[in-house]
Amino acid sequence: MEKQTVQLRIKELQDLLNQYNYEYHVLDKPSVPDAEYDRLMQELLKLEEEYPEFRTSDSPSVRVGGTILDAFQKVEHRTPMLSLGNAFNEADLRDFDRRAKQAVGENLSYVCELKIDGLAVSLRYEQGVFKQGATRGDGTIGEDITENLKTVRSIPLRINKPLTLEVRGEAFMPRKSFESLNKAKLENEEEPFANPRNAAAGSLRQLDPKIAAKRNLDIYLYSIADLGETGVVSHSDGLDLLDDLGFKTNPERKRCATIDDVIKYIEEWTEKRPTLDYEIDGIVIKVDSLSHQSALGFTAKSPRWAIAYKFPAEEVMTKLLDIELSVGRTGVVTPTAILEPVRVAGTTVQRASLHNEDLIREKDLKIGDTVVVKKAGDIIPEVVNVMVDLRTGEELEFSMPTHCPECESELVRLEGEVALRCINPACPAQIREGLIHFVSRNAMNIDGLGEKVIAQLFKEQLIANVGDLYKLEKEQLLQLERMGEKSVDNLLKAIETSKQNSLEKLLFGLGIRHVGAKAAKTLAQEFETIENLQQASFEELIAIHEIGDKMAESVVAFFEQPEVTILINELKERGVNTAYKGPKPVNTANIESVFAGKTIVLTGKLEQLNRNDAKSEIEALGGKVTGSVSKSTDLLIAGEAAGSKLAKAQELNIEIWDEERLIQELKK
Ligand code: IVH
Repeated sequence: MEKQTVQLRIKELQDLLNQYNYEYHVLDKPSVPDAEYDRLMQELLKLEEEYPEFRTSDSPSVRVGGTILDAFQKVEHRTPMLSLGNAFNEADLRDFDRRAKQAVGENLSYVCELKIDGLAVSLRYEQGVFKQGATRGDGTIGEDITENLKTVRSIPLRINKPLTLEVRGEAFMPRKSFESLNKAKLENEEEPFANPRNAAAGSLRQLDPKIAAKRNLDIYLYSIADLGETGVVSHSDGLDLLDDLGFKTNPERKRCATIDDVIKYIEEWTEKRPTLDYEIDGIVIKVDSLSHQSALGFTAKSPRWAIAYKFPAEEVMTKLLDIELSVGRTGVVTPTAILEPVRVAGTTVQRASLHNEDLIREKDLKIGDTVVVKKAGDIIPEVVNVMVDLRTGEELEFSMPTHCPECESELVRLEGEVALRCINPACPAQIREGLIHFVSRNAMNIDGLGEKVIAQLFKEQLIANVGDLYKLEKEQLLQLERMGEKSVDNLLKAIETSKQNSLEKLLFGLGIRHVGAKAAKTLAQEFETIENLQQASFEELIAIHEIGDKMAESVVAFFEQPEVTILINELKERGVNTAYKGPKPVNTANIESVFAGKTIVLTGKLEQLNRNDAKSEIEALGGKVTGSVSKSTDLLIAGEAAGSKLAKAQELNIEIWDEERLIQELKK
């Protein structure tokens, strides 16, 4: 063939394949059989291989996956990729509507969209050609995943106008693709993905684009980041423009003139959600007019013109097959519900902690019961209640054992505690769990020492206490199952590195009763070395703010044990650091203020105070300002449009102040 003819044929094949691809993956209306597409693709691949000079960056041949990368480059987003505030109920939505109307007047309409549960991505086109695709990252800097995104068939490699623009959307894995991927993984004895979102994210974070190419990913675009000269005046026009340019947008979107219509849309989709071939976790509500959007503006993290309604935790029925008992590092025996595997909120649930015997009584659980299960905070499986009406009479009463399931010593219920405990210090389960705790992330953080490896080392009697970890030798480790040369080297390196940890990590890792990560830090800061702490008296300990009687007693008792002294000496001999390396604490004990010693979180937009000033003032009064709400948060200051942190604080019954109250208290 003449070179020129080849060039023409390549161009023709590229255009045809792009067209067929668009019809199939964006319009869902294929005009040729798959075999025809495959035949043309083979022809194109062959010609491009012979004549690489005619291969263009937007050739559909890239769909099969191009060059393997060493690492992903960082990309700074030209417009930040923000997230959305959350609404959990009708009241939150009506609040959002009220605030928006206050700012821009009554004449306001919305666009409702499905909130796809995938991975936010940004796509950059230059002169109409797809140039760069990135993950959201921290919103300012993401990762360049262009090569992987090129394999997503519904992403056009070239759009219908030679525009330079950046569009955003959600990449996801349809349920069907997810199911077949996991089936294949299980057949290959590989770990399956927990849910389609993880599968999509995992696929797009592969360095070899050929993997992503096989994963059948899809995308819905939902915004143009830089509308610039496009002449678009509303969000819905923007979505129509995306359609015209050849992008795939979600067809279920709807313009709603009132908040009542929005609520109706949400109700409809709450019902219809299971019929979709992809997972959604809520509904996004956006103010339609762009001039209204700019009048409303942004908070530090999210637009005031949009909100995400989150579906309530999904509740599903299943069978309680059994109640299993496990012994934790402190000897507490915890019952776990073994459930007939069931899909809940995107993952298969087959176990749920039942915490203690009282909870089993309270919920009146019997083995064989039909139970309702949900995921608390959409993460941790929980048994909600029993369907008493569905009992057959065959259900079995459960009672806690009198003896430890691991070492058979008698269990005790300590005064004031609901938990049953094994108090045998030589109980193998407690020792094994203590070792697992020692290497965990907040403790010594030894990578590569997961539960399974620890269990093996313990079983093979290579380790009996945490000191033995620092005696392990390469030859011993190489004998373990599934431990190759490389993983052994990495593990030994991680063990070596852990010797340099600051004292608080070691203290937390030792698992002193009542000493959590936070208290370990306080102790390390106050006493600086383990020797000082070993000698500390009860009085010295309780003199420290944050250290109560119970903890002080436990610390003294711990260090009084002769075997603990031996262990600490052993750790020191093997080179483990036992001194505090971090900054000295601010002394808050003498400060008299409502903030002293409290852990405080600021969220939402503060209208009168600058956030950094508020933080410094609180800190000067002895408070500690942290970024996320947890059980250890004492107080939440909720500014305007506070979202998930507020919800979490409410859930955890944490005290909540508005900005006004904060100002008053700061003035006192
Ligand atoms: S709009 C300014 N629309 O939900 C933020 N987001 O926190 C613009 N998402 O990170 C986001 N479907 O990944 C928008 N139809 C949709 C969406 C959607 C899913 C994700 C997105 C974002 C998160 C919201």
